[in-house]
Amino acid sequence: MEMSAVFLHLLMAAFGTLVLHMLKFKATADQTPCIPRKFDQDSIVCVCNATYCDYQGIEGGGLLFTYYNTFMTTRDGLRMQRDIGSFDDGVKPNKYIFSVGNETKQTIIGFGGAFTDAAVLTMNSLSADARRNLINSYYDQQGIEYNLGRIPMASCDFSTHIYSYDDVDGDLKLENFKLADEDIKYKIPAILDAIKVSKRNVSLFGSPWSSPAWMKTNGNMTGKGQIKGSPGGEYFKAWANYFVKFIQAYKAQGINIWGLTAQNEPSDGMISGFAFQCLGWTPELQRDFISQDLGPALEANGLGDVKLMILDDQRVFLPYWAETVLNDPNAAKYVSGIAVHWYEDLVVPTSALDRTYKKFGNNYFILNTEACEQDIINKNRSVLLGNWYRGERYFTDIVQDLKHGVAGWVDWNLALNMQGGPNWENNRADSPVIVNADKGEFYKQPMFYAMGHFSKFVRPGSKVISHVDNLPGSSDLQVIFVEREDNSIVANMVNINDQEVYNITITDSMVPGYLNYQIPPKSFVTFIWYRK
Ligand SMILES: *[C@@H]1O[C@H](CO)[C@@H](O)[C@H](O)[C@H]1NC(C)=O
Ligand SMILES: *[C@@H]1O[C@H](CO)[C@@H](O)[C@H](O)[C@H]1NC(C)=O
Ligand SMILES: *[C@@H]1O[C@H](CO)[C@@H](O)[C@H](O)[C@H]1NC(C)=O
Ligand SMILES: *[C@@H]1O[C@H](CO)[C@@H](O)[C@H](O)[C@H]1NC(C)=O
Ligand SMILES: *[C@@H]1O[C@H](CO)[C@@H](O)[C@H](O)[C@H]1NC(C)=O
Ligand SMILES: *[C@@H]1O[C@H](CO)[C@@H](O)[C@H](O)[C@H]1NC(C)=O
Repeated sequence: MEMSAVFLHLLMAAFGTLVLHMLKFKATADQTPCIPRKFDQDSIVCVCNATYCDYQGIEGGGLLFTYYNTFMTTRDGLRMQRDIGSFDDGVKPNKYIFSVGNETKQTIIGFGGAFTDAAVLTMNSLSADARRNLINSYYDQQGIEYNLGRIPMASCDFSTHIYSYDDVDGDLKLENFKLADEDIKYKIPAILDAIKVSKRNVSLFGSPWSSPAWMKTNGNMTGKGQIKGSPGGEYFKAWANYFVKFIQAYKAQGINIWGLTAQNEPSDGMISGFAFQCLGWTPELQRDFISQDLGPALEANGLGDVKLMILDDQRVFLPYWAETVLNDPNAAKYVSGIAVHWYEDLVVPTSALDRTYKKFGNNYFILNTEACEQDIINKNRSVLLGNWYRGERYFTDIVQDLKHGVAGWVDWNLALNMQGGPNWENNRADSPVIVNADKGEFYKQPMFYAMGHFSKFVRPGSKVISHVDNLPGSSDLQVIFVEREDNSIVANMVNINDQEVYNITITDSMVPGYLNYQIPPKSFVTFIWYRK
């Protein structure tokens, strides 16, 4: 313990309440408050512009043993507001008791969002200063500190038009491979800005939606189709080299690509008439492409350490997809992880993840690589400014995923415009950040702070840790505990109840006393304490 900490401890003994008051003041001093605005939803957005934005401050350090920080977000309007408390001595525990266990599970990779064309074009509709506030909100140490970023390889539905990196018919040698204007003018500058402000190592991964049309059986980047021929053939080789060229082209612009998914939603390209860019794969075909083409191409070009992920689609395909690819040692040796999307999580049970984690969790990570909210029926209602339930859905899905072996969670578009676009196919969606270009401002939604409770505090390298509780089977409270590398514990808890205040107690065998707390209705709460 440092001298100053010993001194504070002595002070505490003498003037407990007064010191706690001083610490509380210090705790919130470096947070910049939310400027709230209410639209037609049940909660608020925080308004940022060129000269003002809310920031959550630098977390960590200075917390004494037996003290804890809380960060609170509520439907009523708090946004990751910091406070400090201390473990109570000998106070009778509350009804709901959570005890930190001693079994550590998967290691956290991190949290992030996607640098889609729509996201970066939208950012650039702001002034340089407002755009900086937007990127800093996500990646700066004062913000929510994302450390992951997904990069669509060429166009997807969230582009303004359809293009690939080589639209020259039959160019099997990829002599005309070239990044698009979208990459050079928008995506790469945004990514470089994010890397520059981040205090973490930003890990970036690419995902293709479609190959060039001429490589595809239907000759079109949209609609059902696969790579022409079969694995080992000239089209499959060309498609593997396209990944290599993508990584090399980004490298030439100063960006290291950490990972790849072999295909965004491979099932889309098996659906007749699928409306936007896609490419169809069965697990068997993906396995053979990886073992015969993609794996060897990466290795031959010195890219063997790029983290290759399979699936990148809904969890309903698990564990079969993973078994098919990873039970083949010739494919498995090139693979690092299994990527899942959240779109059917409400109907496909987490047992799909459990079975996959049990079989493969020791050697392969599971990462959620896409999620968003949209109104499927009436797409022009996809943006709901200040909707609490959407934030709650993010939070609860992340808790569920982390409980079932998932190592991190990547959101979809980092930002969108007021209509939930641009999207050439009109497949509009909501985003944690919505930009109002006319007013030169942007809005941080409840979803943004739901992400923030994880991305800021559940640092990469943390491990999910077990706990026991006495909650009834289905409960309004959901919680995940993680142990960080600096010997601190983070508990992230959500109360989905509309009215109920839950009085809870947390115990940790490494810390004397009880952490007693009242969890307000419709709230996200982070607890952080050090184990000495
Ligand atoms: C930016 O936001 C701040 C804080 O709400 C406000 O005082 C200022 O007027 C805004 N600037 C513009 C140009 O709207
Ligand atoms: C973990 O906790 C269980 C139950 O509290 C206990 O029986 C066991 O000895 C502990 N294991 C370690 C390694 O501390
Ligand atoms: C970033 O990565 C480098 C190289 O692996 C490592 O030495 C460094 O500690 C990492 N920094 C952070 C903040 O994790
Ligand atoms: C590709 O498919 C779309 C329908 O999804 C159609 O409008 C377009 O004409 C097709 N393009 C080619 C080159 O066949
Ligand atoms: C919403 O979308 C529908 C069709 O999708 C369209 O008819 C309607 O005009 C749109 N409304 C607004 C306000 O944009
Ligand atoms: C929760 O704690 C508060 C403050 O101690 C108390 O007033 C309230 O009755 C408790 N509620 C329940 C349900 O125990």
